[in-house]
Amino acid sequence: MTTYGVPLMKHTFLHEAETKKALATFILNSERLSMGAECEAFENKFALFQERKHAILFNSGGSANLAMIQALKNLEKIKQDDKAGFSAITWSTNTMPLIQLGLQSIPLDCDKQTLNLSSKILLEALKEHNFKLLFLTNVLGLTGDLDRIKEICDEKDIIILEDNCESLGSELPSGKAGNFSLASSFSFFVAHHMSTIEGGMVCTDDDSLAEMLKIVRANGWDRNLNEHQKKKWRERFDIQSAFQASYTFYDLGYNLRPTEITGFLGQYQMQFLQENIKIREQNFKKIQNAVNQNSDFFPLDFKHMNLVSGFAFPFVCKNADLRMKYIEKFNISGIEIRPLIAGNMQRQPFYQKYDKHIYQLPGADFIHDCAFYSGNYPELSVEDMQLILNCIN
Ligand SMILES: Cc1ncc(COP(=O)(O)O)c(C=O)c1O
Repeated sequence: MTTYGVPLMKHTFLHEAETKKALATFILNSERLSMGAECEAFENKFALFQERKHAILFNSGGSANLAMIQALKNLEKIKQDDKAGFSAITWSTNTMPLIQLGLQSIPLDCDKQTLNLSSKILLEALKEHNFKLLFLTNVLGLTGDLDRIKEICDEKDIIILEDNCESLGSELPSGKAGNFSLASSFSFFVAHHMSTIEGGMVCTDDDSLAEMLKIVRANGWDRNLNEHQKKKWRERFDIQSAFQASYTFYDLGYNLRPTEITGFLGQYQMQFLQENIKIREQNFKKIQNAVNQNSDFFPLDFKHMNLVSGFAFPFVCKNADLRMKYIEKFNISGIEIRPLIAGNMQRQPFYQKYDKHIYQLPGADFIHDCAFYSGNYPELSVEDMQLILNCIN
């Protein structure tokens, strides 16, 4: 295994030693480790932080994405074969549930200066497609012009879901990334803004969607709903006793439950979240200043944002040859790098197997061929930052 001087991340947790010790004590003193009070307490804290009415915890960000789509189908807000536009620059398990759950998935290009979908690209796509759903991704802490995108979707009755797994803490003047949609997903996998080892969340202000997400999360049953909600489902289906209700399954679901370890870790890590977002932002700005001095790189545009909170530094080279040059420089310097997420999703083998129609997406192709990223986290030392800066200066 290659060891890097500057890996994508150095630790599993923010304040690693302290967190591991607290986790060990928690496990030793816990009678229950399956989903319960710790998960609920984390949900409540996270909803407060994100300024959303509901937060529903899952065992991963990918599960959160799957659950959002399944819940919308269960509620009949979207149907089989409805058209769903999605950001072509995204993660596999953002796109896969669209295919798995029988929607027509239409990839949307990105603005190469923001790495994100823009209202201009959306308006162009709307000339050809009648979307019921827009599943956009806020890429590596950056966003598109979400206000305008939301306005357009509100006008046309298009449901927006936001995959905010890479942008926890990012802010626009009109609100936090993740709050421009009916629901948004978050990931707490190692190397994201905060880690619960594995874990994910959905945030929403919609009561019926939050309720359905809890049904989808746990087998299709009502066990994790409140008493009022349980009564409603039981009356609707004429369930006569608590005995019968315990194994009654109301709609399509999975087992996507987190554990109390996830709930405990989430709460513990949240105390460091704000501080860690601030450091990531400062790091990002330092790197961007250097990038802007080097004509080999395409400058990023984040003027429309108040705060950029990414777990990685995106680098967009002006062409593929230059990317090769910088990949080599980073490798020689021992800085771990990755492609810019999955590139143009249409170029992934799974996508070509299930969707034969390929759209022309010049922005996403450019990012696919010319971009890469390295890790951005609070433990980057002055020397680590200097090593990265030396590669781009
Ligand atoms: C945009 C995006 N969505 C979803 C996910 C999936 O999250 P998880 O690894 O928690 O399943 C990731 C993972 O990095 C991601 O970058």
